[in-house]
Amino acid sequence: MIEYENLAKLNQIFFEDYKKSFAQTLESGWYILGKNVEKFEQEFAEFCGVKHCLGVASGLDALTLSLAAFEFEKGDEVIVPSNTYIATILSILQNGLKPVLVEPDIATYNIDPKKLAEKITKKTRAVMIVHLYGKCCEMAPIVDLCKSHNLKLIEDTAQAHGAKYRGKMAGTFGEFGAFSFYPTKNLGALGDAGAIVTNDEKLAEKIKMLRNYGSKIKYHNELVGYNSRLDEVQAGFLSIKLKKLNEINAHKNELAKVYFKNLSSNFVKPVQHPDYFDVFHIFNIRQQKRDQLKEFLLGQNIKTEIHYPIAPHKQKAMGREMGESFKNQQHPISEEIHATTLSLPISFFHQKEDVEKVCEVMNRF
Ligand SMILES: Cc1ncc(COP(=O)(O)O)c(C=O)c1O
Repeated sequence: MIEYENLAKLNQIFFEDYKKSFAQTLESGWYILGKNVEKFEQEFAEFCGVKHCLGVASGLDALTLSLAAFEFEKGDEVIVPSNTYIATILSILQNGLKPVLVEPDIATYNIDPKKLAEKITKKTRAVMIVHLYGKCCEMAPIVDLCKSHNLKLIEDTAQAHGAKYRGKMAGTFGEFGAFSFYPTKNLGALGDAGAIVTNDEKLAEKIKMLRNYGSKIKYHNELVGYNSRLDEVQAGFLSIKLKKLNEINAHKNELAKVYFKNLSSNFVKPVQHPDYFDVFHIFNIRQQKRDQLKEFLLGQNIKTEIHYPIAPHKQKAMGREMGESFKNQQHPISEEIHATTLSLPISFFHQKEDVEKVCEVMNRF
């Protein structure tokens, strides 16, 4: 069986270091916002090339707190891609803001900057882009648009730790980069965890307060805050794994090369371009007979995933929150991606031979 993912195998090389780190934290008696979190925040800020990193409880919280920091008026609009994981859109709704969905570019699966411009209105306050599957968005026109329209830029970097656009790290183009360290991510913890990166000192201070009940000084609450803190145990694990993140990304790139080389033209492969350094959190292909292909591969003991089977605007939750008209929006490109995309095995524990086998079987489909 070639598994899609196996977190025990993925983490095996870290087990001994994790055990030591856990024992140290356990014995320290300090479990929330302590030395491990501070250390990891410094290390991750350095990795990204930014001034500040603030650990939070999850990727969803990283997005939610980023938006909360701006204190927009209820009903203000935030532009967001129509094909993303639901969390991106939930963060907008949880701030009482209106998500305005923009279609992706079918070649990159990321938000189409040309279509983004058309959706800017007087109520638009921010653009929340997503570097989907581990590929950066086309940042030059997006940054220009945000500057010229005075819009805040938040990057959902949950799938793109270490990805680059023209040599610059994902998550560092706008006011905030929001990261998830969900266990399957390229930099994954052993539970829920997230972080926000920024170069803006005032915004960093605000996030520090927001994540900790809106308080800077204990029992003095200046903002209506959250409880969203990265814990010491996870921060200890993340520091250990961060040292290997470049190696993890390089390994995934090697596996991707095998897919690019061996997969037949029966499948639409991800686009490659020198402007982008991709980290292949997900290696997806598209195929019109996607569901049959998935079944066929399973019959040959190869597991795959679908990211994602339902477009966000089609989700029941959206109808409940935004009304049925929201669900009736037309996003044909997004729907085409959701109907045809298939994610292939590309974990840190997979070997070239696994991917060669997947290709060989797929080419028989
Ligand atoms: C694009 C995207 N945004 C946000 C999230 C939310 O992250 P988390 O699960 O850590 O809340 C995820 C991950 O699941 C994601 O893939």
